[in-house]
Parts: sequence; C-alpha cells; structure tokens
Amino acid sequence: MPHKNQGMEEIEHRRSVEKLYGRIKSRALTKRQADLFESLLPTISVTSLKAEQLSIYRDISLEIGFGSGEHLFQLAIANPDNLFIGCEFFVNGIASLLSKIDEVKIQNIRIFQGDSIKLIPEIPDNFLAYVFLLFPDPWPKRKHIYRRFVQEKTLLEIHRILRRSGVFRIATDCLHYAEWVNKVLTTPILSEKFSIEKMLHTSRPSELLWPKTRYEQKSTTKCVFSSLEKL
Ligand SMILES: C[S@@+](CC[C@H](N)C(=O)[O-])C[C@H]1O[C@@H](n2cnc3c(N)ncnc32)[C@H](O)[C@@H]1O
Repeated sequence: MPHKNQGMEEIEHRRSVEKLYGRIKSRALTKRQADLFESLLPTISVTSLKAEQLSIYRDISLEIGFGSGEHLFQLAIANPDNLFIGCEFFVNGIASLLSKIDEVKIQNIRIFQGDSIKLIPEIPDNFLAYVFLLFPDPWPKRKHIYRRFVQEKTLLEIHRILRRSGVFRIATDCLHYAEWVNKVLTTPILSEKFSIEKMLHTSRPSELLWPKTRYEQKSTTKCVFSSLEKL
C-alpha cells in the first residue's frame, strides 16, 4: 500500500461500513443480475486491471458513488478510447450498471465494489484525468459531518491522484453541502491546489460533457456544479 497515509487510515477507521451504509442492498437481485455479479463483475473489477492494459487508454477517470451508473456509462460510450473506473458499494446500483454493460458489451468500464476511501490510496500519483463526485450523500447533521466525502484529507488525495490540469467535478443539490465544499476548499492548504469554476443549474454544463445522473433527473431543487482544476 505505497500511497496510504495516516490521514486516510484515520478516515477509514471512523467510517465503519455498518455505521455508514444502511443501504448496501435495498431489494433482491433478479436472477440475471445475480448471474452478472458472478460472471461479469470479476472480469471488469478494478483488481483485474493490469498495468500494461492501462497504456491503451488515453485518459483514465474515476467516479465515486456512481449510483446506478448513468453518468459513467454514457461517458464510456461517448469516449471509447478512455477508461472509466466506477466505485460504489450499493449492490442494486452496481447491478444496474452491470446490466447496461452487458447489453452493449462495452469494454472501457471497470468497477470497484466498495468504499472509495479504500481504493483511492491505491491509485498512483498524477494518474487520472477526471474524478467525479456527483450528488454525494450530504450527511446534513452536524454530528455526521465526518461522514461527508469532502474533507481536507480526501481532497488532498484527489489532488494527488489527478494529473496536472486534471479536473474534479462535484455536483450537489444541497446548498449546505456546496457551502461545505467551498469552506473546505478555502482552507490554506487547499486554496492553492485547485482552481474553481462554479456554475448554477441555470448554466448547467452540456449533457454531452456532463451526463445527468439518476439523482439529478429526480431532483427538484437547484443544483450546483463545480469543476475544480488541479493547479
Ligand atoms: C445520493 S447517491 C448519488 C448516486 C449517483 N451519483 C447519482 O447522482 O445518481 C450517493 C451514492 O454514493 C454512494 N457512496 C457514498 N459514499 C461512498 C463511498 N465512500 N464509496 C463509494 N460509494 C459511495 C452511495 O452508495 C450512493 O449510491
């Protein structure tokens, strides 16, 4: 584990799976979905990635908490030369993405089933073109703030794994979360690491570049889209 640092270990320690994720599975899988977990998932899991296979891709991107995978899937279809790694522990969401992948036999998606906090420390420095965090769980209660994905330590890790001029995209429909992101980003240690371009829902980025997730499709409130470029 060459990249694991003490800060990330602390975060891992605090976020036990039982506490965090009441929602690993919400409904039974169909037979086809269960079969895809057995047959397809092992062949496209991140652990099946070999270093030499990576060199065929122009860019590699990571989506944290892809839900049912709409955003990741559409980007992968539109960019066959790029590799898209998706991270999610919600079993039914992974099952949805597996079904889509199986239908069109797309080759450029890999899945990490589990907590992204465990995957990120394994990713080499300056490795990714994009990291996406779309509609993360807002954990609005004060006592749960430590569960929010955006923390100074996690953003430092995102900065580390992005290549120069790589982009971290965050979307949320929770104004408190957007304010929280701004607060974390303006800490002295982070403010010089990312340039921030913030957009409101009225000037939503093109769906070709930034496809809608299921959460966004259902959201009835204004969303904030932020693109943070690694300086
Ligand atoms: C509010 S949902 C949004 C899902 C999707 N991004 C969308 O916009 O439709 C948040 C998702 O992030 C996942 N998630 C939360 N924390 C995560 C983590 N540390 N690693 C991987 N997935 C995570 C949850 O399982 C859930 O599916």
